[in-house]
Amino acid sequence: MTKIFGHRGAAGTYPENTMPSFKAAIDFGADGIELDVHLSKDGVPVVIHDETVDRTTNGNGFVKDLTFSQLKTLDACCRFPEYTGIAGIPSLEEVLSWSGTSNFLVNIELKNDRIQYENLEEKVIQQIFTHNMQNRVILSSFNHDSLMRCRSISTELETAALISERLFEPWNYAKTLSASGIHPIHYAADQQVIFQSQANGIQVRPFTVNDDTTMRMLFRSECAGFFTDYPEKALLLKKEII
Ligand code: G3P
Ligand code: MG
Repeated sequence: MTKIFGHRGAAGTYPENTMPSFKAAIDFGADGIELDVHLSKDGVPVVIHDETVDRTTNGNGFVKDLTFSQLKTLDACCRFPEYTGIAGIPSLEEVLSWSGTSNFLVNIELKNDRIQYENLEEKVIQQIFTHNMQNRVILSSFNHDSLMRCRSISTELETAALISERLFEPWNYAKTLSASGIHPIHYAADQQVIFQSQANGIQVRPFTVNDDTTMRMLFRSECAGFFTDYPEKALLLKKEII
């Protein structure tokens, strides 16, 4: 059964990577959420997409140059007039504390493809185990060295390679990383890639799928899952198909 992951929560209708967005995705009925993690200046894993706070908050500067307490003063909802002031940048700890009480899936994307954060992998993995979420988390990254590092820290956790272009036999590439999945950009995930990968034991979850036609194709192909900004729409289409 194709799993629906709310991308950055329910980013189509809520401020991305905030607690209201994650809660909305789960309330809509998503099977899981996706979130992005960076490290603050003082080494706290925080949930935000960009390397800087400029686009999504009322602050400016690099996440790596701001302490956790400085980051916590920012409004992460200011781009949505109806939600202004209701939530800040969550820590990973905050999201996992909330997730730990339920049973949905969590895809933690390590955002270390441009900036190398010291011990990001160790810190994130430690929090996953602290919250006993090792069976419900998928670690992904565009930084495939980092995925190898995750694998060397824990053989228990599921990892998936984010892929932004078409690769030759991506299922074989995933095996070289000891990854259990690939998360390709949506146009690099056709039915052949889905079928061949999954026949080789590699789960496919494309991002970011917001149109009805691609959603229907993925449900019909029994793709393992996909990431969408509109989990409510995906749920309606899923019900229509099954
Ligand atoms: O993890 C899927 C997707 O989130 C990857 O791209 O840029 O939205 O983090 P991006
Ligand atoms: Mg992401």
